[in-house]
Amino acid sequence: MRKLIAGNWKMNCLKGEGIELARDLGMRYAQENDPAFDLLICPPATLIDAVGNVIAGSGVLLGGQDCHAEPKGAHTGDIAAPMLADLGCSHVIVGHSERRQNHGEIDLVVAEKAAAAHRAGLAAIICIGETEAERDAGHALAVCTRQLAGSVPKGATADNTVIAYEPVWAIGTGRTPTAADVAEVHRHIRAELCRQMSDADRVRILYGGSVKPSNAAELMSVPNVDGALVGGASLKAEDFWAIAQACS
Ligand code: PGA
Repeated sequence: MRKLIAGNWKMNCLKGEGIELARDLGMRYAQENDPAFDLLICPPATLIDAVGNVIAGSGVLLGGQDCHAEPKGAHTGDIAAPMLADLGCSHVIVGHSERRQNHGEIDLVVAEKAAAAHRAGLAAIICIGETEAERDAGHALAVCTRQLAGSVPKGATADNTVIAYEPVWAIGTGRTPTAADVAEVHRHIRAELCRQMSDADRVRILYGGSVKPSNAAELMSVPNVDGALVGGASLKAEDFWAIAQACS
């Protein structure tokens, strides 16, 4: 399966640095002869338009980091999926653990956001993953089962849905699960998706959490790992590009 390397900039980058980073990545991707991977940038909402202009024509994809479940209305500070589509986004991240933790987003809300993304013609990158306490208690697979059942909406297909497995304890910590642990969880996710949708074998399942140039090749070679969702290392063009190169 063609891999997807997604950069989640989170709440980082002012205009100048964001444009510079996007321009650098756009040039690298455009110069790559028949790239073996899709490259996606998810900047903060303030920079989506500017980044979109800079990467136009390069083949790099554009995404949001969150969307509201409603297409418009009285929701101060929120962003609707059609607004993202209007700016040229093809993807939106939903249910990131930082949204689940800091904004109290439960599975049902995540499913509604993903459904809104689908209605707007966007692919939803639905994030799941266990906390450290849940892993220590031996519940990692059960948590993923529960989150998949609750967060993947009806109508999800391989074309409009990407799953990102991000163990919460690996995000921004420099710690990663072993390749064997990643393989076990991704195999489990694939099996669970097969119960929910008919084309589950084509759904891309990304790994996220402290992906960096030094561990990307190993993580990306694990069966059922179809790409990466990269936070910190996506803020340096060289590091993000090195991670993408690990797929080719
Ligand atoms: P990290 O973040 O790469 O900085 O660990 C990943 C994510 O939260 O998507």
